[in-house]
Amino acid sequence: MLIDSHAHLDNERFNEDQTQVIARCEEKLTAVINVGYDLVSSGRSVKLADSYPFIYAAVGIHPHDAKEAPEKYLEQLRKMAEHPKVVAIGEIGLDYYYDLSPRDIQKKVFREQLQLAKELNKPFIIHDRDAHGDIMQILREEAPYPAGGVMHCFSASWEIAQECMKLGLYISLAGPVTFANAGKLKDIAEIVPLDRLLVETDCPYLTPVPHRGKRNEPAYVQYVVDHVARLKNMDAQELAQRAAENTIRLFGLPIKPMADG
Ligand code: NI
Repeated sequence: MLIDSHAHLDNERFNEDQTQVIARCEEKLTAVINVGYDLVSSGRSVKLADSYPFIYAAVGIHPHDAKEAPEKYLEQLRKMAEHPKVVAIGEIGLDYYYDLSPRDIQKKVFREQLQLAKELNKPFIIHDRDAHGDIMQILREEAPYPAGGVMHCFSASWEIAQECMKLGLYISLAGPVTFANAGKLKDIAEIVPLDRLLVETDCPYLTPVPHRGKRNEPAYVQYVVDHVARLKNMDAQELAQRAAENTIRLFGLPIKPMADG
């Protein structure tokens, strides 16, 4: 089993060949979670999930787009989340690297969507770039999280990883763990417990080695798996299986964990 827990197949970089890319996913992957970043892309995610049995959707407003969120965006997300294949609220969070939305608006929209996820009893998908302090503060204030969540493309310290896991969150690793300059991320990959680990591509971004620099796609999650398995000194197939089981558990996917062995 192999699942890409975070993809953006509705991104314009797939406009030309989306059908072929999805065909390659279907060949290699058990499931893909397609994650929205604003209301329009959330709607496109739901449509993809509606069209392909193995694709599931998350709906949410990314911190980059927080300043564009219309007044009634929560109502619209709530409505989209009624679709049976919407499995999470995401991606939500804070991005102080690009600062594309004012920080007070980022924080407000992040907190409101965390509360929405709790109200709907759904897990959430967190984007945290250079905002670890405020992310953790808001997560502490809004806890507990009975439906859980995931720190997507984890980039913080082992101390923060441990606190996230205590809050019931999963740690998701993406292409950067394969980069030569990954440093402490490789150490975290080595020690993160197997029952707390997800893998993802975040495609079309963050392409893993050996395709770094080209467009990413869900099938490349295999490179992330291979790399993390080497760091953990374990069998890649087993790691893929364990990460897939975690993804199924977190998002409540209607897939039998041992379906294809
Ligand atoms: Ni993403």
